Amino acid sequence: MAQIFKPIDNTFFRGIIVGGLLLLIGWITTAIMHQWSSSQTGVGIPLAQPVPFSHEHHVEGLGIDCRFCHTSVEKSSFAGMPSTETCMKCHQEIWKDSPMLLPVRESYRTGKPIVWNRVHNLPDFVYFDHSIHVQKGIACQVCHGKVESMPLMRKENTLYMGWCMSCHEHPGHYVALHQNNQRQPPKTPTEMSYKPWDPNIDPKRVKEIRNCSACHR
Ligand code: HEC
Ligand code: HEC
Ligand code: HEC
Ligand code: HEC
Ligand code: HEC
Repeated sequence: MAQIFKPIDNTFFRGIIVGGLLLLIGWITTAIMHQWSSSQTGVGIPLAQPVPFSHEHHVEGLGIDCRFCHTSVEKSSFAGMPSTETCMKCHQEIWKDSPMLLPVRESYRTGKPIVWNRVHNLPDFVYFDHSIHVQKGIACQVCHGKVESMPLMRKENTLYMGWCMSCHEHPGHYVALHQNNQRQPPKTPTEMSYKPWDPNIDPKRVKEIRNCSACHR
């Protein structure tokens, strides 16, 4: 019977297998890099906003508390966005003719709220609640980065599932403990920072917040 494969084919097929493997590895690497590239995650990229509002100016510069503008952050799932009236408390007097603030004055005149573009936006199938996190003493900065030094708002973390889980597996690292061992909200969110491991955190709760049903209800 005639030989179907000559010895030369061995090298040929080996070349194909090795080449194919290399291609596959390259393809997977590109796919992963693409998923983690900032164009996909949105991390670090400021969005265009109707008014170039600066957190650095208002928080660090003027010392305004986060809760002055994000009023429902301690009480509800949604942090809340400031109304035009909140801006006008000051901007009726300060910089009242600035062209930068034209959309604010326009909104005040017409009663149409300013539409801010969302920087953080979880998919609809994920449940998130600000109030529990803030009440457990997790600083805004743990999740949102140093907002007080951002001239324009940008995302600091991916908000991917793996990011949530990296904390839900060791939440004690991030939970501030009040002196009398009662978990109380720290005085001002800007002052909060994470404290070392909290031995009193309920291990049952730590298990619960790792369940799929905690975030996918
Ligand atoms: C407690 C008072 C106060 C409130 C409330 C306030 N601002 Fe301001 N804002 C200021 C002051 C003061 C300046 C000028 C700062 C400077 O130039 O030193 C300023 C500056 C600005 C500027 C100029 C650009 C810059 O350098 O930051 C914009 C735009 C602006 N504010 C938008 C807003 C918007 C939008 C709101 C509502 C969400 C708002 N501000 C709420 C006090 C306030
Ligand atoms: C004077 C009002 C004001 C204060 C004080 C303020 N913010 Fe904001 N914040 C805004 C406005 C207006 C926007 C929408 C424009 C933007 O995204 O920059 C915003 C947006 C945000 C967003 C992004 C929302 C989104 O679209 O996902 C985060 C996060 C945030 N603020 C956190 C904070 C934190 C943390 C503090 C305190 C350290 C703070 N803010 C203090 C007015 C304020
Ligand atoms: C445990 C992490 C975490 C902490 C702590 C946290 N945030 Fe958020 N924040 C998020 C996530 C996640 C979103 C996106 C929510 C969504 O898309 O439904 C968000 C969204 C926001 C928004 C946009 C409006 C909204 O509610 O979706 C604002 C404003 C905001 N955060 C402000 C704050 C402020 C102010 C604090 C501190 C008092 C704070 N956050 C603490 C994770 C956090
Ligand atoms: C920095 C730490 C940290 C990060 C990041 C974090 N969490 Fe949490 N989360 C906690 C802590 C602490 C609790 C409260 C545990 C307890 O009850 O003692 C909690 C509780 C929850 C609960 C339970 C609420 C309830 O009412 O039972 C949900 C849902 C939740 N987190 C969703 C998320 C999602 C979604 C993300 C990511 C987008 C996230 N968390 C990111 C620390 C974190
Ligand atoms: C602490 C909150 C949290 C818990 C617990 C959690 N998830 Fe998620 N999950 C998320 C978030 C946030 C996303 C959205 C990620 C994104 O923006 O793409 C997500 C996305 C997903 C997706 C969509 C695919 C993807 O990766 O985007 C699937 C499937 C999923 N989760 C399954 C699960 C399963 C199964 C469990 C239990 C083993 C679980 N999740 C537990 C927060 C959580």
